[in-house]
Amino acid sequence: MKPGLEDKMRELVMGESASAALEEWSQFLSDLEVVPYNYRGDHVAEAVDVAKQLAQETSADLDIVVMATWLHDCANPNTAGTPLPTGITHCEACASKAREFLVGEGVDAPTVKRVCDAIRKHGGYALEKPLEPIEAQILWEADKLTKVGLTSVIRQIINGVRYEPNPSMKGILQRVHKLMPLCRKIAASVMTEPGKRMATKRLRNNEDFITRLEKELYFLE
Ligand SMILES: [Fe+2]
Ligand SMILES: [Fe+2]
Repeated sequence: MKPGLEDKMRELVMGESASAALEEWSQFLSDLEVVPYNYRGDHVAEAVDVAKQLAQETSADLDIVVMATWLHDCANPNTAGTPLPTGITHCEACASKAREFLVGEGVDAPTVKRVCDAIRKHGGYALEKPLEPIEAQILWEADKLTKVGLTSVIRQIINGVRYEPNPSMKGILQRVHKLMPLCRKIAASVMTEPGKRMATKRLRNNEDFITRLEKELYFLE
């Protein structure tokens, strides 16, 4: 082939298809009547499923766990952190909003206290020892386990399009690769037996996804 011809062809195809794609996406976004992806809602709903699954294999109070998990991010409905008044943490803001909601719903004071205590403890990506009571540990694990596994990969891809638009397949592989240290850190802090089993499976799913995509993209055996 004539020297430089392949570069010219790449330039032609990538340039024209990028303009066409921008037009299509702009049209799609301007016609949109539903949100393309409700990250926070999807994360919380998945965390509730995980929390129920973990709670039923432990001595945790299911009602406390379910209320705490549904409300654990209630002061932060968007994808990135919501700006908070100085000195107030995400966990405190969510606990205080949860308290207001539950009191308004007529939930008894001791229950509200237990739910808010669990919410207040759900921060961070690593634990040195299990949280107490068990309901707080279950919420912590359910929240963090949604950041491990195939669901986290899919979220990373969807949300990643907003943060760094127009990724290539190799770029997606790199992004998913970058998730691994966090996934391993989380898995090491999961301490209940059902949580550990789930973390092991989810971590393996992350690794399998990376290996399989790598093999496809780089023609490896
Ligand atoms: Fe949170
Ligand atoms: Fe969360």
